[in-house]
Amino acid sequence: MTIIIVVGAQWGDEGKGRVVDLLSEEVEVVARYNGGDNAGHTVTLNDQTFKLHLIPSGIIHPHTLAMLGNGVVINPLALLSEMQTLRSAGLVINEQRLRLSYAAHLITPAHRALDAAQEAARGNCSIGTTGRGIGPAYTDRAARQGLRLGDILKNDFEQRLQQHLQAANHTLQALYGAAHLDIHQAMADYLPAALALRPYIGDVGQELHNLLRSGKRLLIEGAQGCLLDLDLGSYPYVTSSCTTAAGALAGLGLGLQPAERVIGVTKAFQTRVGAGPFPTEVFGAEAERLRGSGANPWDEFGTTTGRARRVGWLDGVLLRYAVRINGLTELILTKLDILSGLETVRIATSYVENLTARHETLPLGPSNLSNVAPIYEEVPGWSEPLGALRHWQDLPQAAQHFIRRIETIAGCPVRQVSVGPERSQIIDVPNANEA
Ligand code: IMP
Repeated sequence: MTIIIVVGAQWGDEGKGRVVDLLSEEVEVVARYNGGDNAGHTVTLNDQTFKLHLIPSGIIHPHTLAMLGNGVVINPLALLSEMQTLRSAGLVINEQRLRLSYAAHLITPAHRALDAAQEAARGNCSIGTTGRGIGPAYTDRAARQGLRLGDILKNDFEQRLQQHLQAANHTLQALYGAAHLDIHQAMADYLPAALALRPYIGDVGQELHNLLRSGKRLLIEGAQGCLLDLDLGSYPYVTSSCTTAAGALAGLGLGLQPAERVIGVTKAFQTRVGAGPFPTEVFGAEAERLRGSGANPWDEFGTTTGRARRVGWLDGVLLRYAVRINGLTELILTKLDILSGLETVRIATSYVENLTARHETLPLGPSNLSNVAPIYEEVPGWSEPLGALRHWQDLPQAAQHFIRRIETIAGCPVRQVSVGPERSQIIDVPNANEA
């Protein structure tokens, strides 16, 4: 029985897709436990690049079985379109390979309309959501008025969907003064899509339990990053689900059991999309240097929304926090190559609050960061491009030193670093005592 969990150690977009892609070769089952089509995972298969939002990215390996757990919120239109994209690329996507939890909640057109209306109502305090209806779908779940995938199997689903859309129309108009939904059109588009999912719906928790007991290996893919966790992230600038590793089992309907590896993926710098605190953020030319111009698919522009990401130096205080709240056993560091050519590279090691109090840890979590300034350690940079390197000993000494400093500052070993977007552009990092 093997469970490996991969989570984002920052605000999402750390490059989890490529890590999952590599690990999927070693497992039979891949699963998602949180979020919905707000996620964006870029994966490559035979020169084809896919931007997956909802289906676990491990599905591109034909031997895997993919599961969406009860902690996920599913828009059938988004899911069917992704299934179609994968089929067009020659992959077999059927009810034997893709399983959906009966307890996962549905995202409807009403949730998307409410997401937009709520963001507009927040004005200057908007969260910068992806607009995919994530928050309103989880709100309905917590209010115990949501529609679940299991409801699609029932005879009164059409009627309940209609009632849900009507109630949302009332809220949209009465509370937000927003345009109402065309219910007739929404029903015509959405109902057939939801019904098409019927064969895929089952008890994912039970199925996973059976698979694990029969010796199958499970790779659990987190979506977003732990700093966007509803409770432990930079609240209220967070998503609406549990993004930490501890939520993985609950979001799949599995009982408490050990995970062999809990891998946190972090970039060698820091990015975030949407609003909210970002102590190590940089602007202007410095930001453009880290972000890229947008000419390359791996430049820092959102996979789901295309928005330019905010960028900054690696925040070691937040990384330490990520190690603690996820119980990370290891880190994988992505985009090290982007730092080549910089004279010096910075890592925040602590914060100073209101110009006086110094903090090595976060006194009240990552939501209260507006008055803190990072204290940086500045390490020497390196000029060599790293893209062609495959071995630790070939990395410039300054790059090796930077990685070792991250391990010490975060309190967690770095197991691999990526030096480019291709599958092969990855370097194993030896244990610090053995190097
Ligand atoms: P929501 O998840 O669409 O409600 O958006 C809430 C916040 O999470 C916003 O700041 C989004 O930009 C951010 N967010 C949601 N999904 C992702 C992701 O996959 N990567 C990075 N940020 C995300």
